[in-house]
Amino acid sequence: MANNYYTGERAEIKIDGKTYELPIVVGSEGEKAIDIRTLRDQTAYLAFDNGYANVGSCVSKITYIDGERGILSYRGYGIADLAENCTFVEVAYLLTHGSLPTREELSEFSGMLNRFAMIHEDMIRFFDGYPPNSPPMAILSSMVNSLCSFYPEMTANPREDIDEMSARLISKVRTIAAFSYKNSIGHPVVYPRHDLSYCANFLNMMFDSPVKPYEINHKVVSALNKLLILHGDHEQNCSTSTVRMVGSARVNLYASVSAGISALWGPLHGGANQAVMNMLEEIHAGGGDFRRYVEKAKDPKDSFRLSGFGHRVYKTHDPRSWIIKQTCDEVLADLKSPDPLLSIAKELEEAVLKDDYFVERNLYPNVDFYSGIIYRAIGIPTSMFTVMFALGRLPGWIAHWKEMWDESDGRISRPRQIYIGPLSRPFVPIDQR
Ligand code: CMC
Repeated sequence: MANNYYTGERAEIKIDGKTYELPIVVGSEGEKAIDIRTLRDQTAYLAFDNGYANVGSCVSKITYIDGERGILSYRGYGIADLAENCTFVEVAYLLTHGSLPTREELSEFSGMLNRFAMIHEDMIRFFDGYPPNSPPMAILSSMVNSLCSFYPEMTANPREDIDEMSARLISKVRTIAAFSYKNSIGHPVVYPRHDLSYCANFLNMMFDSPVKPYEINHKVVSALNKLLILHGDHEQNCSTSTVRMVGSARVNLYASVSAGISALWGPLHGGANQAVMNMLEEIHAGGGDFRRYVEKAKDPKDSFRLSGFGHRVYKTHDPRSWIIKQTCDEVLADLKSPDPLLSIAKELEEAVLKDDYFVERNLYPNVDFYSGIIYRAIGIPTSMFTVMFALGRLPGWIAHWKEMWDESDGRISRPRQIYIGPLSRPFVPIDQR
């Protein structure tokens, strides 16, 4: 990667009476950073920032976010344009290849997705080994890691044949997710079909059955495309940073993505969509009064947080949440299935946006707030919501893994720490402790 983001400007830092200079870098949209890579060598000091809120861990050409203005773009294209005009497969290509596909490129990519859609029959038997009610994210993460065993040629030379490996992963993750669901309800798996688009295929694998064929609803397919596109990438979030960090040890794509899936599982990250739904269901069961939840979230002595609100980067509306809210209204109207949880969610949002606690802390609805209501209307169980997030985020993880792998000055990710534990304790034999 050409280092044209160095401006020649330098920041001065004064420590222990001495002044040191550090280079300044500027990104495409003018965001500035101080390159502190020589800080420790020059000064013997470390930079300390738990949670990494002030640290740029890499330079990247994939996704841009302006958290103050609520802007998100993939490879330079605005998220609203992509969600309105593209299929998920086109956006997956954009993220993983860097440009929108031509018709020929799209047809070749879609052909690969079809070719790789099956999983090895031996893998299907794995599902039987999980206890009933196993968390779908645990299954997804371990099944993706298992792909290393079935495609060892891909792991011997991890960067070679990356296009094939990405298509294989994007296609198989969808099959694994649907098979895992079918297995969890004790139904036979439904195999992928070459005549269906990516999202229609997924829905068919989820909901078709030998006794009742699934009828593809194009509005639902379009909503799913939108949801997956909106989740496609979000720069250095926890799971993506995990994929890059694990990959920096030069581990293959499958193992790196498997680690990313585990990170996404957490309720502060992708698991929030499931937590939102559980919260809305509880509120509904309790008669619809959400005030207790708002008060709990504001109580400094209570660790409870209002799921679906707040974001590390956005200090205004998450641009994805508008689109999801609108899609939610459209899908529910089209399916003629009004959901009382949507009314509760809207009332809760209205109350929160007027509440000083949330206003002062810039806490707005995020991508996870309304997405679950759409998934619920489509028939996807709450326990699978975070799996849906993973399906969408996969092209982003792949794009970051590739970018990380290709960095000319890439090094293994290895943060330091400030040790504050005891020093030089004399050893005490076990029977004298
Ligand atoms: N409910 C109540 N208070 C909140 C919330 C919330 N959802 N989010 C942040 N705060 C408060 C927090 O208590 C703190 O207050 P104070 O200054 O009085 O200590 C202040 O706002 C700043 O919070 P923070 O913890 O420093 O913010 P963060 O950037 O570390 O955390 C977050 C970001 C997304 C983890 C957090 O907002 C949160 O826990 N939200 C709920 C979970 C959620 O919806 N996660 C999905 C995020 S978007 C998709 C994704 O990443 O997967």
